Amino acid sequence: MNCAYCTKDVKYFPKKCDKKHSKKLLFCLQLWYNINAVKMNVFCTAHTSAKKYGYGMRVLFANICINAVFVPLGREYYLEKFIIKGGRRLEGEVEISGAKNAVAAIIPAVILSDEPCILENIPNISDVSISLRILYEMGAKVVFLDKTTVKIDASGIADPIVPYEMAKHMRASYYFLGTLLGKFGRARVSMPGGCYLGDRPIDQHLKAFAALGATCSIDHGMIDVQSEGLYGTQIYFDMVTVGATINAMLASVRATGMTVIENAAKEPHIVDLANFLNSMGADIMGAGTDVIKIRGVKRLKGTTYAIIPDQIEAGTFMVAAAATRGNVLIKNVIPKHLESITAKLEKIGVSVEEFDESIRISVDGPLVKTSVKTMPHPGFPTDMQPQISTLLCLAEGTSIVTEGIFDNRFRYVDELRRMGADISVDGKVAVIEGVGSFMGAPVTAPDLRAGAALVIAGLAAKGVTEIEDIYHIERGYENFEEKLRGLGADITKKSVPGAAVRKAVI
Ligand code: EPU
Repeated sequence: MNCAYCTKDVKYFPKKCDKKHSKKLLFCLQLWYNINAVKMNVFCTAHTSAKKYGYGMRVLFANICINAVFVPLGREYYLEKFIIKGGRRLEGEVEISGAKNAVAAIIPAVILSDEPCILENIPNISDVSISLRILYEMGAKVVFLDKTTVKIDASGIADPIVPYEMAKHMRASYYFLGTLLGKFGRARVSMPGGCYLGDRPIDQHLKAFAALGATCSIDHGMIDVQSEGLYGTQIYFDMVTVGATINAMLASVRATGMTVIENAAKEPHIVDLANFLNSMGADIMGAGTDVIKIRGVKRLKGTTYAIIPDQIEAGTFMVAAAATRGNVLIKNVIPKHLESITAKLEKIGVSVEEFDESIRISVDGPLVKTSVKTMPHPGFPTDMQPQISTLLCLAEGTSIVTEGIFDNRFRYVDELRRMGADISVDGKVAVIEGVGSFMGAPVTAPDLRAGAALVIAGLAAKGVTEIEDIYHIERGYENFEEKLRGLGADITKKSVPGAAVRKAVI
């Protein structure tokens, strides 16, 4: 079986096998060595033999040196950062992994079936490990069949509760509400964590559950939803919301009768979830439009399903290639999902060549200003806003970027300013004066996509950039630094011993 964290072989599912284990082993060895060295010193100082005393002191000195190296490494919590020596053009080919925001909904959706499901093209990111761990802790059987394929049998789940300790790590933990409500008629899930992007209420999720016949309450940080039976209904969302559309689909798929979701989100991962549920025997029509119709079915069977490629990971590599004036073939993508990103890049002066399942990015001429406004799909995705803003810093002229989804998604601007960017922000609008280049600097990733944007800035910068808090980035990008190294980037990950890691919130 493969580890949920690093895909190496392990015996039991959530047993980790990454570096932390070898570090723990080193710590134990060092402890043992330390005790022996102290014993030796006590023995030696208790005797007057200069030779023995000297030997004991040497052992103690060696021990102090070894302590200095291994004891910090042995600590469970340590800070990791990226160190990037910028200025190299990205060249070559890169393979895109499965979509984070699709798999975040599809893993909890497995609960709705009474039979095992096999999910393929699973990305190796921390959000996936956390979702699988939640299922495992609730009683599901989780087995990795290979590096990107997992078999989940959720029939052993009896208690529809996801406690704070597990839910706090992930925004998408709120999908367990819809899926547990859909299966058991009740759920108790802690309020979700999440990247801080401004106020992120869940009123539309609760409105959908209530419309289906559930009562909802929030008590001591736990969300309780209960029903005597869920009945198909009409749900009209006050705004386009990905999360609430998904939760409404999950809760209604086994309800009695027809549910109609109006003003639904149309993102590729909504369609992916509908395809997954339909492959289990659900009856969902209209996913990808703003009206989704769901005729409830009594039971859902097991299935084998491959997750779509990650639109935002692909977009991030497109921008990274452009920012370094590189030439990169990005493989395993659905070019249709990238249209809004492609259109903006072409306006900026980037050449984008589309193939069936890949896309080539290159830059010949100058990069030029443009305006970007983020919007729900098929508009320009908010999850690409920090990356495109970073590219616009390198373009000639003044660009305007308007954030149309979240209240506070410009927290990376202060960090980019440290690297020489000239950006002013007024509410949800950023005015970017092109500066042509960045200077390497120490910076901190404030959230997932902002972290990716800082990596792009570092790749394009003159000199060395050190990025802290990269756990945000690892929530959503599989082997980011390895993939970039494969394209010629000079990027390494460094552990800083002894520092307390701030735990990831998603
Ligand atoms: N909103 C409400 N009430 C609700 C739900 C949403 O007011 O009940 C508001 C939000 O505050 C926001 C807007 O509606 O202003 C849109 O929120 P949405 O529900 O669409 O976002 P989300 O479900 O919280 C997902 C992704 C985000 C992505 C957004 C928009 C997951 C786990 N998260 O968030 O992904 O930015 O949709 O596409 O799927 C990321 O991957 O970096 C990320 C943040």
